[in-house]
Amino acid sequence: MDFQKILNTIQEDLSHYDAFGNVASYIPELAKIDPKKFGMHLYGTDSQHYSVGDSDEKFSIQSISKVFTLTMAMNILGEDLWDRVDVEPSGDPFNSLTQLEYESGVPRNPFINSGALVIADILISNLDNPKEDLLQFVRKITGKESIDYDYTVAASEKSTGYRNYALVNYMKALGNIKNDVDTIVDFYFHQCSLAMSCAELATAFMIFANKGRILDTDEKILSKTKNKRINALMQTCGFYDEAGEFSFEVGLPGKSGVGGGIIAIHPSRYSVAVWSPILNEKGNSELGMAALEKLTTLTGLSIF
Ligand code: DON
Repeated sequence: MDFQKILNTIQEDLSHYDAFGNVASYIPELAKIDPKKFGMHLYGTDSQHYSVGDSDEKFSIQSISKVFTLTMAMNILGEDLWDRVDVEPSGDPFNSLTQLEYESGVPRNPFINSGALVIADILISNLDNPKEDLLQFVRKITGKESIDYDYTVAASEKSTGYRNYALVNYMKALGNIKNDVDTIVDFYFHQCSLAMSCAELATAFMIFANKGRILDTDEKILSKTKNKRINALMQTCGFYDEAGEFSFEVGLPGKSGVGGGIIAIHPSRYSVAVWSPILNEKGNSELGMAALEKLTTLTGLSIF
């Protein structure tokens, strides 16, 4: 399979694509990103790397970080985690407050904002230095010590993050938040501000394509069962109210972020990251989805 040729074809095809949407602007710092950026990196389970465009440029991974925090929380709490957060697709926007009211403050899944905020609460309850531990975790699975938070982006989101404050306050009123509200949103805004390139993301997410193990070192990061569950959640909930569409078009487990990144996994074959900052109305990268649709069509490699 000539992955490099396929990535080149995708880049060429998408250079003629007129995106309709805009870059995220509700986080002021993200509005400054050049909408024309495009990068893609594929990492095969045969240890080969392929890339096109701005694949080594770091961007704000935003909600993609929710997969890292979920992995850490699953390793800490095991099955007890599911008392605090459900595993069902929400069918609602990522920052929705409505379901929480009639579902007693238990978020539908760990990838909508309310779910990720409960996961942040759990990490804060169980770790002495959760921000440092998250960095160490991401550095370990990528082998890249330079990975860090973008403190400007974190501060920018803090200045406008009223919906996330509302979600935590509401869940605290309903008994599903244990720690101080400001501590939780501070951790959450930092996790979302993680700055990584497509190459680094594809490397990090290889653990989910490689049965829970780091490919280079064979170190076990999570059990096969936990790996199955995380892939299942990415498949059913990774794209919020567009999870069905992503599954239909692309056919891979994956996760998006409003920084314009998307990561997707082919269990046993590859992990792939794509970055293009223009978002559709659901908050997912427009060209990113198109690129991955082309990838699974041209390679014939989806999970279906
Ligand atoms: O909480 C927020 O709104 C952002 N920090 C993350 C949202 C996000 O990335 C949604 N994904 N497409």
